[in-house]
Amino acid sequence: MPRILSGIQPSGQLHLGNFCGAVAQWVELQKTQAAHDSFIFVASYHALTTVRSADELRGAIRQIAIDLLALGIDPARTCLYAQHDVPEVTELQWLLACVCPMSLADKGVSFKDKVAKGFDANLGLYTYPVLMAADILAPQADIVPVGKDQIQHVEIARDLAAKFNHQYGEVFKLPAYRLAEGGDLLPGIDGQKMSKSYGNTIDPFQDEKPLRKRIMSIKSDSTAVDAPKDPETDPTFCIFRAVAGRADPRTAELERKYREPPAGGFGYGHAKQALFELLLDRFGAARARRAQLLADPGEVDRILAAGAAKARALARDTVDRARKACGLG
Ligand code: ADP
Ligand code: TRP
Repeated sequence: MPRILSGIQPSGQLHLGNFCGAVAQWVELQKTQAAHDSFIFVASYHALTTVRSADELRGAIRQIAIDLLALGIDPARTCLYAQHDVPEVTELQWLLACVCPMSLADKGVSFKDKVAKGFDANLGLYTYPVLMAADILAPQADIVPVGKDQIQHVEIARDLAAKFNHQYGEVFKLPAYRLAEGGDLLPGIDGQKMSKSYGNTIDPFQDEKPLRKRIMSIKSDSTAVDAPKDPETDPTFCIFRAVAGRADPRTAELERKYREPPAGGFGYGHAKQALFELLLDRFGAARARRAQLLADPGEVDRILAAGAAKARALARDTVDRARKACGLG
């Protein structure tokens, strides 16, 4: 059975883009896995490339873990851990860095993107794809479910695994990425890619009143209520479709109303109200679970500790084999 692994950075509040692009796949895929054979982690070392406040980082690590559990990550099926509790990945990062040509690292789009957004051009940010390769290769993952923006990183991981194996003999499995249905990046309230660093996110756990206000502020054009509208270019529709799913009858019904407004008209305000109601429905149970988890802080600590122990044992074994293969011991 292929092993699944993915991660998310604790660099801000989890948002609908993370959910639709990544977390929903993780929850779905864990059902097909044997107990504890799916690996999801909070990418705390990665967040250190951009987050500068220790308190903020500590808080965000816990919060993301709680949100993942609330959204359906099941510790009986998935090994959930914090990246910094598996320090073997930083050791493996070095072994991989030594087979990584500068030209491959130079191609990394995320370094250029983050620097363009004003983040520090630090060495951690530059070597980030090598750490991500270590995350994936240490527990010998086969499938890495991610959003489109992470494809290049998974391909770098695959390249580095192949280079190491070619040089020293078969140590690593070659991983492949997996995209969510549709595969497109979810737009934010401004129509750009929804991202923690763009200030355009929708938080599925936000309180109802500010959540409704947020949804009402999604960018829309000035087409009149009784005129046909193109759903494909409208962020409200794209978000609705990604959350409900393409096969959900509510998606087809909304699309029909865009294309052929009913008597009395159908405006963007109506579509936004439909999205608001969809979110309350879709995330109602997760919101309740999150409140319970917040009230029992020991629970998340126990889950993360158990997850780290399991991931660490696997990572240690791989790193030891990689060390031997390249002449260390
Ligand atoms: P962010 O860009 O908000 O910092 P992360 O880099 O932590 O998000 O991404 C965590 C996961 O969520 C990754 O698999 C990423 O591809 C996915 N993801 C992030 N933003 C989006 C989006 N707008 N649409 C689809 N998937 C996304
Ligand atoms: N780079 C990913 C992101 O920003 C997070 C991540 C770190 C990751 N290591 C990983 C994802 C390994 C998948 C596998 O979204």
